[in-house]
Amino acid sequence: MKNILVTGGAGFIGSNFVKHMLATYNYKIINLDLLTYAGNLENLKEVQDHPNYTFIKGDIRDRKLVNSIFEEYKITQVVNFAAESHVDRSIEDPEIFLLTNVLGTQALIDAAKANWKVDPENKYSKEYKKDVKFLQVSTDEVYGTLDATGMFKETTPLAPNSPYSASKTSADLIVRAYNETFGLPINITRCSNNYGPYQFPEKLIPLMINNCKKNSKLPVYGDGMQIRDWLHVKDHCTGIDTVFHKGKIGEVYNIGGNNEKANIEIVKLILKELGKSEELIKYVKDRPGHDRRYAIDNTKITTELGWSPSYTFEQGIRETIKWYIDNEHWMNNVTSGDYMKYYEQMYK
Ligand code: NAD
Ligand code: TYD
Repeated sequence: MKNILVTGGAGFIGSNFVKHMLATYNYKIINLDLLTYAGNLENLKEVQDHPNYTFIKGDIRDRKLVNSIFEEYKITQVVNFAAESHVDRSIEDPEIFLLTNVLGTQALIDAAKANWKVDPENKYSKEYKKDVKFLQVSTDEVYGTLDATGMFKETTPLAPNSPYSASKTSADLIVRAYNETFGLPINITRCSNNYGPYQFPEKLIPLMINNCKKNSKLPVYGDGMQIRDWLHVKDHCTGIDTVFHKGKIGEVYNIGGNNEKANIEIVKLILKELGKSEELIKYVKDRPGHDRRYAIDNTKITTELGWSPSYTFEQGIRETIKWYIDNEHWMNNVTSGDYMKYYEQMYK
């Protein structure tokens, strides 16, 4: 039996991952989430009474709490999703990004190190590899930006440009260092932009769908020609599952599905799908330090671990648009309260 501590499991990707794992395996899942503005227990309604599922509200930085969870639930693996995740917020107020993403990850991995009692001398032994693992969910944003050509490989130098990506890079490197120095069994995944159900509407796709539905303007940063490499969240979850089970200890794996799209293409596609006019598009001031292009080379995970994505972008984006339209109640709930304050402040 595995007792997996999933952190940030009430957020967008974490909640999809918790549901994927409960549906696929007979593992105990302990979800530790602080329920910040981005965490929402409604995302987990279907599994809240599942016998293998436990929810704990708390902070990954709370060392006492995290240690007590390791002890009480005999945690054997960690999948760390918990983070502040939005670039624009990190530009407004970077500090919480460093506190949560860097110090939070360190507090968590310290608990793993203390509780798993790994032997640094024994780092490459096949023995313990099977027993415990700390999987850090990192991002392709650690690589910085690309010109029109080239792709991010796992060996591409790290050159983050936003406070968000700098904090994720620090966390990524701390996790790597705990393997090198203390022999802690780890993997790091670096995935491209996700889309799909339950994404908080501060991110491009759900924000545009929501505005479109309300006939509000669609704020496109700069010239709209920035490129992101999109992956359906369920494919990200199977990618993490693959690395969780088959990843070679100490290794980093990129996850991506070769789906590069310019932002403006996505915005126009959403408008078309919802039968709205392109007059709703409004070009606004560009994001400072805006990365121009992301593109993931997924050769390592596809050839070494046999993972491949199952969604085409065309199928995935249609299903996603439909999901947000069908789940108006979810959208209304998450956009009530502080969301409008955020929106006014950010897009004034
Ligand atoms: P999200 O913002 O939707 O969810 C983050 C979750 O973490 C929320 O449930 C929040 O309550 C929780 N959280 C925040 N601070 C916490 C703390 N101190 N202690 C415990 N819980 C805390 O983010 P997401 O889009 O689901 O991203 C999840 C992870 O995947 C992040 O680490 C992010 O960097 C990474 N990632 C995201 C993408 C993407 O496209 N969204 C792509 C690659 C990697
Ligand atoms: P986002 O979803 O914030 O993800 P990330 O910055 O992590 O890639 O943004 C995706 C792209 O869309 C990015 O190039 C910024 C752009 N964007 C807009 O043009 N307008 C918006 O209102 C938002 C939220 C993003």
